[in-house]
Amino acid sequence: MRHLITPHDLALSEIQALLRLGDDIMEHPGDYGDSARRLKLATLFYEPSTRTRLSFEAAMLELGGSVLGFASQDASSAVKGESVADTIRMVQCYADIIAMRHPKEGAPYVAAQHANVPIINAGDGGHNHPTQTLTDVMTIHREFGRLEGLTIGLCGDLKFGRTVHSLVNVMSRCAGTRFILISPKDLRAPDYVLDEIRRNGRAYEESRSMEAVMPELDVLYMTRVQRERFFNEADYVRLKDTFILDVPKLESAKASMIVMHPLPRVNEISVTVDSSLHARYFEQARCGKYIRMALILALLGKESGIREQEAGKLCI
Ligand code: NCD
Repeated sequence: MRHLITPHDLALSEIQALLRLGDDIMEHPGDYGDSARRLKLATLFYEPSTRTRLSFEAAMLELGGSVLGFASQDASSAVKGESVADTIRMVQCYADIIAMRHPKEGAPYVAAQHANVPIINAGDGGHNHPTQTLTDVMTIHREFGRLEGLTIGLCGDLKFGRTVHSLVNVMSRCAGTRFILISPKDLRAPDYVLDEIRRNGRAYEESRSMEAVMPELDVLYMTRVQRERFFNEADYVRLKDTFILDVPKLESAKASMIVMHPLPRVNEISVTVDSSLHARYFEQARCGKYIRMALILALLGKESGIREQEAGKLCI
């Protein structure tokens, strides 16, 4: 039984195989329309979501499967005090695979301890968001044709931004990655994330200015300041608009530099950037469905018979 709780659960070679499968599904979606027939995905989302939940649901439906879930945390028995362990023991009677988003770090890990179906972490508190990272690396790979040798600027809330933590985990395993961490002091990346960069022998530097580092970047990964993780509103208000990307700031960027954002955006990217040749955040959201289709197939062990046996190399 394989789960995806943190990006560590996937070797780089497995991620690359998922990217190949995701690309193939994107190019030939019709070939996969029956791959998960009669199988069910349960979405257990205890935090708000638009893209992640809908892309999981769209992914399962396009594979010929079905989806079940509740509309919000308030509509689940969690409000009556049910534990994650009990919820999972019950939901696995109804579903073949479960995607869980939870405000508490580690909740999907607890779920996996009690599960006899694959559990996918769809975001746990300020910790990890591995399927957003798969989406991100698919976007990067489709753009540059490689994951190696890129300079990646991560900007905004690097402390609470779980998508940043997971993306650093994967990209620091790729040869030649260099990170430039652009955040207010109070929102620096946690030590365990910096340790990961160092452990993999990659370089990083910190900057307090987006403009100063712009010419060096291949990717500028913007993030929202994570209001819901702050202990007090005053700190959020003080920090929320520290970095706002607009068109003039992009003037010194390489022509090939891409701007990414996991979305939702609040203020941190001006809407005028949307029509810039650098913007990739909506394309990034599009990749989310295809890479989740690939992941669902791999975790369900449904890869046999898939075009060119791509998933056969997943070893999942
Ligand atoms: C992100 C998340 O939930 O962590 N959103 C997403 O899944 N695309 C980023 C965010 O909420 O800022």
